[in-house]
Amino acid sequence: MKILTVVGARPQFIKAGIVSKTLAARGFVETLVHTGQHYDERMSGRFFSELDIPAPHHHLGIGSSSHGAQTGRMMEQLEALILSSGHPDAMLVYGDTNSTLAGALVASKLNLPIAHVEAGLRSFNRAMPEEVNRVVTDHLSTWCFCPTATAVTNLEHEGIRSGVHLCGDVMYEATLHLAQHFASGSALMDALRRDIAPHPVTWPDGPFLLATIHRAENTDHPERFKAILDGLSMSPNPVVLPAHPRIRPMLDRLSLPPTVHIIPPVGYAVMLGLVRLASGVVTDSGGLQKEAYWLETPCITVRDETEWVETLHDGWNQLAGADPAVIGSAFGRLPTAPTKPFGFMPPRHPSERIADALMDARRS
Ligand code: UD1
Ligand code: UDP
Repeated sequence: MKILTVVGARPQFIKAGIVSKTLAARGFVETLVHTGQHYDERMSGRFFSELDIPAPHHHLGIGSSSHGAQTGRMMEQLEALILSSGHPDAMLVYGDTNSTLAGALVASKLNLPIAHVEAGLRSFNRAMPEEVNRVVTDHLSTWCFCPTATAVTNLEHEGIRSGVHLCGDVMYEATLHLAQHFASGSALMDALRRDIAPHPVTWPDGPFLLATIHRAENTDHPERFKAILDGLSMSPNPVVLPAHPRIRPMLDRLSLPPTVHIIPPVGYAVMLGLVRLASGVVTDSGGLQKEAYWLETPCITVRDETEWVETLHDGWNQLAGADPAVIGSAFGRLPTAPTKPFGFMPPRHPSERIADALMDARRS
């Protein structure tokens, strides 16, 4: 079976790092297309080497621009690519980015069946570009590969019942793959120093919190972004923040609380090591909320809602919006001991289930 896979953003490289290997082992012929939505070495190239993903067969080099321009340029090039390189049997897309949407729209116009990995997630906030991308992609897809039972129910409520597969979360597979990479905290810190060099490690030894912020809802409004930083300043421990390039210009303009330590984006194994070692995570990232949960690190989510409702189990993940007082009081409620059993441990080999479903469709 010939699959054309479209990726473009950091979390999609991590997911493809797992699924592509399984597809290759099962005899699928995959053509990997990188739209170029993320392009900094620290946001893109390094994940291909770290996760041992073969170089993309095609790199569209789209880069950053407004949503319409970025998505439109991707669509134009993807359509030309498919028409000129022989019709694949299906298109595979991941998650909720503009690269996902562009792939799904082009495939549907060319009557190419679409496989959507991480289908059915909903924040029910249509002001978020990611929510629109998810809804449209799910409704166009032949296979909706859902990470959670909640995702299946969400699709049912929208009338999507056929082609829905509860296969678990490929991010869980990725997390298991690399979470134990460092044998000790000091090995991790050595790797971190090498990763961010020549940027120094400037926080003292001891407990720290790990933070990331990149969602448009938090970064497009300077006052909301500032409110989150004010919340972070109430952390009882130093806060280490690997900065997505989106927030770099704002960080350069603001005076930061002395306890907040900005570092460049880090590699995946180092990031998982930091999640494990941190006494808490503060984030608006979808992926990081789950990784914190799976690695038993409490999380404060600086959003008003989450697609990953399972992580809210027993206060393990707290929704704090962008209110400094709420973020500050959430620090005082971080659980200190795991409250097992966790409610959200997906099956271990989602990528095998994805391959099975695609194979079955091929045979029928
Ligand atoms: C995108 C996805 C989001 C996902 C995130 C993963 C959309 C609508 N959003 O958000 O769902 O959670 O990726 O990280 O697709 N930039 C650089 N270098 C890069 C990449 C980005 O400097 O390599 C800067 C540019 O100024 C760019 C901005 O970051 O305009 C935002 O990048 P973009 O890909 O549009 O959105 P993300 O916030 O990364
Ligand atoms: N991540 C990483 N290095 C970093 C920040 C994040 O490897 O400096 C990983 C993180 O562990 C998670 C993924 O990138 O697996 C999440 O990406 P992001 O937050 O950009 O996107 P989202 O999950 O919100 O779509």
